[in-house]
Amino acid sequence: MCGIVAAVSYRNVVPTLLEGLRRLEYRGYDSCGVATVADGKLQRARSVARVHELAEQCEEDGVAGQTGIAHTRWATHGAPEVCNAHPLVSRDHVALVHNGIIENHEEIRRQLQDKGYVFTSQTDTEVIAHLVNDCYEDDLLKAVMKAVGFLKGSYAIAVIASDEPHRVIAARQGSPMVLGIGEGENLVASDAMAIGGVTDQIVYLSEGDVVDLKPDAWTVYAREGEDGAFMPVEREIRVVHAYAGAVELGPYRHFMQKEIFEQPRAVSDTLEGVAAISPTLFGGNAEDIFKQTKRLLFLACGTSYYAALTAKYWIEELAGIPCDVEIASEYRYRVSVPDPDTLVVTISQSGETADTLAALRHARDALGMQKTLTICNVATSAMVHESLLSYITRAGVEIGVASTKAFTTQLTALYLLALTLAKLNGRLNAAKEEEELKRLRHLPVAMSAVLALEPQVMAWAERFAVKQDALFLGRGVHYPIALEGALKLKEISYIHAEAYPAGELKHGPLALVDNTMPVVTVAPNDSLLEKLKSNMQEVRARGGELYVCADGDSVIDTVDGMHVIRLPENYGRLSPILHCVALQLLAYHTSVSKGTDVDKPRNLAKSVTVE
Ligand code: F6R
Repeated sequence: MCGIVAAVSYRNVVPTLLEGLRRLEYRGYDSCGVATVADGKLQRARSVARVHELAEQCEEDGVAGQTGIAHTRWATHGAPEVCNAHPLVSRDHVALVHNGIIENHEEIRRQLQDKGYVFTSQTDTEVIAHLVNDCYEDDLLKAVMKAVGFLKGSYAIAVIASDEPHRVIAARQGSPMVLGIGEGENLVASDAMAIGGVTDQIVYLSEGDVVDLKPDAWTVYAREGEDGAFMPVEREIRVVHAYAGAVELGPYRHFMQKEIFEQPRAVSDTLEGVAAISPTLFGGNAEDIFKQTKRLLFLACGTSYYAALTAKYWIEELAGIPCDVEIASEYRYRVSVPDPDTLVVTISQSGETADTLAALRHARDALGMQKTLTICNVATSAMVHESLLSYITRAGVEIGVASTKAFTTQLTALYLLALTLAKLNGRLNAAKEEEELKRLRHLPVAMSAVLALEPQVMAWAERFAVKQDALFLGRGVHYPIALEGALKLKEISYIHAEAYPAGELKHGPLALVDNTMPVVTVAPNDSLLEKLKSNMQEVRARGGELYVCADGDSVIDTVDGMHVIRLPENYGRLSPILHCVALQLLAYHTSVSKGTDVDKPRNLAKSVTVE
């Protein structure tokens, strides 16, 4: 998703801006750009290539300056072309970068066109650039404050003007932005990691904030009082160690590979400090809230949604509490029946996903469901901030667009939630609790054993790389894992993949099976294995080639056209956390074999902060 970095300093800021953009590359983008003020003039470079090509362009064109703004764009309004890349400039006077979506851009565009403003892009962002220019009298801060009053939608913006060479004005509403305080320089960025190389002094800007940045000073303004006038406000400065090491690849070829292999560490970190199963893991007042909970409603998107689907099996079985799981982007717009005794659980790697955040607000504000819990990888995110309870997974920064370690740490946290609710419901005695904790603590070791199967998975991947389609089958709690395996494969290798609960095969998808169709089957040694074996026979009878992820002790007779990888341990209820690792490796190596861009798959962004 789009990324912003802006800085005002006594030194040339272009290297800082470019380094910031590099650190934001993981979010996904299709164009990028930089603008500076130097000698009373705006300079700009934009590119539809990668940030390192933009850096070459800046070098060639001599783009430099002590004040600048930069952006990686993920197209929403207008194609990924240079004319639509940010910064957008108004009459050589104002340059602006923007994240978010302006909903009333057409109306404002018409008004500005009537005033003679000429538009050179199809973006909603250009509207803001011209609007700020139109509001400008002699002070950029006042112009931005006035302009944002006309905007409907979401934005994080950073703005410079040619006649104010030592000033950046930034503002946010609905899109995240942080202020970084340096020595003799100040910065804003979409996240702390972008400026982690310059400063660890971070202010998380609140909704509606406007910031005035100069090299030696910064002031945050917010609307205060009855007339809603902007007034200077205090904001807490936090020390944020923005994961400098996390953006290094180390010995791995791609971030996704690195993150797959980091999973034993990530799960172990997520379990750190869990001495016993207790509601306090989820926040001080969790016990009261959990005790009143009659039902759970999970809201999430993508991979996080599949984590929620998995949790439903665990919670209903262990705790005996009914769970509903909804795709956040659907839930926020449908008419549903509110229930104040339901615990609303949002799951998100980033904690900023627009649809999930809006669904949480819809449940809480429109439907009056006040009991909220977020399972999230980013402690400072909006979702955590806006929920009563939280569990912070400790995956560390996830750079690869395809989520891996965030998923397995979410599952770990969700299993803890299932155990906690079971304990409060009198369904987990001390001996069982000890046994479950022991099993959880051994999980990183079991995951490492699955990672050691990489060479076998690579052999499968070679065969997948030439396929157009694939089917994934699972049953019970492994059905969401089949869904996740199919999502991983399609998003990074662009192979069309679908997942079904294996029992559904004969109700339609079996028609797709012929001798060109690989069928991945998640086949742990559980109570559904015999049923699954019948489904596998249905596939073989139609010539479909089976790729079976089994456990060491799954009794499966291998026949021609069947390839079996055996996970070393049968891990009972936690088995989904192991089987998904094998499927992540399959997607990863298939993508490598095909030569697609593993970490930045086409059309996708890491953090989806727009609708
Ligand atoms: C898939 C993937 C996405 C995200 C989804 C939600 O690999 O990464 O499907 O899971 O966009 O993102 P978060 O978890 O940040 O809310």
